[in-house]
Amino acid sequence: MRTLTLVTQKGGTGKTTLAASLAVAAAESGERVIALDLDPQGSLAAWGDMRDADSPAVDRLGPDRLGDLTAILAALETQGFTLAILDTAGVASTGGNLAMQAATLALIPARPSRLDLQATMPTIETLMRFGMRDRFAFVLNQCPAGRSSRGIEAANGLGMFGVLAKPALTQRADHQDALAAGQGVTEFARGGKAAEEVRALWAWTDRKMKGTKT
Ligand SMILES: Nc1ncnc2c1ncn2[C@@H]1O[C@H](COP(=O)(O)OP(=O)(O)OP(=O)(O)O)[C@@H](O)[C@H]1O
Ligand SMILES: [Mg+2]
Repeated sequence: MRTLTLVTQKGGTGKTTLAASLAVAAAESGERVIALDLDPQGSLAAWGDMRDADSPAVDRLGPDRLGDLTAILAALETQGFTLAILDTAGVASTGGNLAMQAATLALIPARPSRLDLQATMPTIETLMRFGMRDRFAFVLNQCPAGRSSRGIEAANGLGMFGVLAKPALTQRADHQDALAAGQGVTEFARGGKAAEEVRALWAWTDRKMKGTKT
């Protein structure tokens, strides 16, 4: 089983939004997905509670169970899951650290603003400390529509510190409306641009985790 962790020690960058929509997109592509909410805030689990569909499975992992994360992931694998997606809190936390260490790939969402870019630094340092140099990627999220200089500058800035996932995700109402409806964007507006970007991001992530050239 592969594990994809959404992490950054900064709130509001899109960890939960991407965890939910990537979980749905991955399930649509044939993965058996479990999305686990490690954030005490519980946004991903609340999204899961709104859903009727069996797939992806969604569960919360409270602080009392975090110490068992490795064993829990191993048990999920024996149940037949092929992908775990872990959503973490937007602060430095034990859950975040364990989720980074468990990751096949850690995805760091960042908005294209100086403050968000600066805020990725402690997360990068932690990942380096854990020996994850080749197992993390940034994903630019909430970029202004169109080819903005802001997005390009941010991409160049992050590119100095690590790999940048493709594509960058644009700021689109579909993301907010989908989550509010208990859906992923690929369910909410299958033919929309947000859905297209998320499917492409899942394809990139899948390839990256398989270690093939991206
Ligand atoms: N691509 C996007 N387009 C439009 N809105 C977005 C996009 N990504 C995220 N958002 C919105 O930005 C806000 C923050 O997103 P989200 O809750 O996913 O961030 P987070 O990193 O999980 O935050 P926290 O650290 O508080 O858990 C939400 O209102 C969400 O709907
Ligand atoms: Mg969140």
